[in-house]
Amino acid sequence: MRIFLDTANIDQIRQAAKLGIVSGVTTNPSLVSKEATADYETMTKTICSIVSGSVSVEVLAEDTESMIKEARIKASWAPNVTIKIPATAAGLEAISALSKENIEINMTLCFSLNQALLGALAGATYVSPFVGRLDDVGHDGMQLVKEIVDVFKHYQLSTQVIAASIRHPLHCVAAAKAGAHIATVPYNVLMQMINHPLTDVGISRFLADWRKVSPQ
Ligand code: G3P
Repeated sequence: MRIFLDTANIDQIRQAAKLGIVSGVTTNPSLVSKEATADYETMTKTICSIVSGSVSVEVLAEDTESMIKEARIKASWAPNVTIKIPATAAGLEAISALSKENIEINMTLCFSLNQALLGALAGATYVSPFVGRLDDVGHDGMQLVKEIVDVFKHYQLSTQVIAASIRHPLHCVAAAKAGAHIATVPYNVLMQMINHPLTDVGISRFLADWRKVSPQ
């Protein structure tokens, strides 16, 4: 399973990119609006200069024609831009058109197996089931990830599954076990994936023991 970073915060992206384990970034209008400068174009170009993999940028238009126009403009911002389009009828029509132009699409706001299947048939490169938001309303978000992965495998669909709306490290463990191709994780969750108290204790003990035989 690959790891994408789910943020529009440039400092966080720079820090995470240094680790060499992040292969993409996903943004959305809410994440962009949290940053001091909500200039989506400048922000996207900066992110694309830091991360060479897929950088998802969401369209804001709601009808097909406007989505297509907006997607073409946003896709021209950098070669590694992936366009995020929601799982609606207008969105599916736009995905079908844009995928024929070789524009990478991440179908977002996916909450059902049917939506995921239709996104794949429309030619989306990725579909993003929102795990945390399903959990929030009492549905098992990770079960949906697993079902999508199984169905895509069964029908040999090449669309990749991004486990999105990840809220904590156990979501990452479950996404990996469910066979998600990618988990897109907030920066704090990435740090939680790394940290383990026993690693810290182990380092302290090793250093303390070493100092006993090798006084400075
Ligand atoms: O990747 C989608 C993500 O940004 C949504 O997360 O926590 O707002 O449900 P959340």
